[in-house]
Parts: sequence; structure tokens; C-alpha cells
Amino acid sequence: MTDQAVEDWNGEVGERWLKHLDPFESMISPVNAALMKAADFKPGESVVEVGFGGGKNAVEIAKATAPSGDYLGVDISEILVDHSRKRAAEAGVENASFLCADAGAAKLDAPRDRAFSSFGVMFFDNPEKAFANIRSWVKPGGDFVFSCWAVPDMNPWIGIVGAIAGEYVEMPERDPEGPGPFRMADPDATKALLEGAGWKDVKCTLWRGEQLVGGEGASPESAAGFVLEALAIGEPLEEEGGPELVEKARADIVKALKPFHKDGSIRMDAAAWIVTAKA
Ligand SMILES: C[S@@+](CC[C@H](N)C(=O)[O-])C[C@H]1O[C@@H](n2cnc3c(N)ncnc32)[C@H](O)[C@@H]1O
Repeated sequence: MTDQAVEDWNGEVGERWLKHLDPFESMISPVNAALMKAADFKPGESVVEVGFGGGKNAVEIAKATAPSGDYLGVDISEILVDHSRKRAAEAGVENASFLCADAGAAKLDAPRDRAFSSFGVMFFDNPEKAFANIRSWVKPGGDFVFSCWAVPDMNPWIGIVGAIAGEYVEMPERDPEGPGPFRMADPDATKALLEGAGWKDVKCTLWRGEQLVGGEGASPESAAGFVLEALAIGEPLEEEGGPELVEKARADIVKALKPFHKDGSIRMDAAAWIVTAKA
């Protein structure tokens, strides 16, 4: 993990995730439901989660594996670790523990039955090394179940708003091979990466569904606020043209989101891979 990536999730990016935790978790809830169904955790299993964020799945997995199973979460962001520890305690969970560490390098006390991640595996500085490290956490015969985004073209929720912002300022270019949400969008490359790291029987299953932009119940106005603040699209706009430019873009984003306001939420097509692999 580069210092920059550590700083991002252990700083500004992690803070933004925590500040907008409810809409983030609500937004990805349809794909998360499919991911949890694919994992189908059972009592007695020991599970390690990579990049647990605000700890929603931590609580669910700990409850599903109780009383004899256990949950360990590994996340690089100190504030997210603190938050999740409190959330698990408040939920009355007793079989969960949390480690603040880089999943690309951390060593565990003992191997687990299963590894899991919801959108937490696209940010490693050295993915080959990281996936081999996670492989070393899992007992022979165990598995790894995780989600990652499919290509941006299949995820208009990011493309449409990015394009509006791009009309006003040059948005920072993303390196598709570098750390970022769409880094593992190519299933052939993901399969090769995992096999190279020692995983077997790798399967990438495409999930297509709705993304609730800004979370359940968001209006075009509140979803535009979410896009500008939580997805950090407002920052380059503010830098370029101050609050006036942000307000101009906000009006355009509200207009673009209105046609997607159905049944009380902003519903846009989304696509992700649900990846399974055996140790
Ligand atoms: C997009 S968020 C997903 C959070 C959560 N799993 C969810 O679905 O709500 C990515 C998470 O991965 C964590 N993360 C990023 N790089 C990491 C690394 N090298 N090791 C461990 N966690 C990492 C971040 O701190 C963040 O919590």
C-alpha cells in the first residue's frame, strides 16, 4: 500500500465514507443483499472480512456465525475501525473483533474458514501480493467471496454525474489499473489475478440491478448533494469556479436525476461482479 492510498482511506476518504455512511450503505444495499446471499454464512464458521467500512456486514456475519463461529474484520481506516467496534458492541455482538491494518500485508493469529469483502479489495497498491496474503489467511478448502464494480459503462450512476461535472471542469483522470472503484471491472483479469495468487475455482457472476443514488428515499435534490459531497465531485468544481460553479452543476445534476426518481428513490442501473474462489 502506498503512503498516498493509506492516507486516503485512513484520512479524507475514510472520513467522507463515515460522514455519509447511511446513504452509502443504503445505496449499495441491493448488491450487498446478493453478496450476502452468495456467501450464505452458517453458525460455527470463522470469517475474516477485508475492508469492512462502517461495519454493517460485520454485525450480520457475526450474528450469522454465532455462537461458536467468529468474525474478524481488517480495515486500514482507524476511524472506521473505531466506529465498527462501537457498532458491534451496541448490537450486542460478542464474537467479533476488529484489526486496523493493511489487508495487503497483515498476518493473522490463525487461519479462518472463509474470507469476505464488499467492495474492499480494489484499493491495494500491489494486488498480486495482497490476494496472496489474503489466501494465506484461509484454511485449505475454505473460500473467498467478494464484490467489485463492473465497468463504468454498466454503471450509469457514476457516468452520468461525472459527465455533468466534466462539462464544467476537467475531472481527474483515473488510471483503470490503479487503486479505485473500477480497478477489478474485467473478470478475466480478476480470474488471472486470483489464480496467480493461489486461489482456485474462480467464478465471476455478474449482478445487475438498481443503485439507490443517495440512499433509500433520496430526492433529486438530496441525491445531488450526496453526489457532490460524498462522491467528491464538488471538490474539483469548487476549486475551479468556487461555490457558483458548484451550484450550477448542482442544478444540472438535479435535472439529470429527475427521470430516475421512481417509487420514492433515485434508481439507476448498476452492475457488479460477485466473485467466489476456493483456497
Ligand atoms: C468502498 S469501502 C467499502 C466498505 C464496506 N465494505 C461496505 O461495503 O460498506 C472500502 C473499504 O476498504 C477499506 N480499505 C481500503 N484499502 C484497504 C487495505 N489495504 N486494507 C484494508 N482495508 C482497506 C477502506 O478503509 C474502506 O473501509
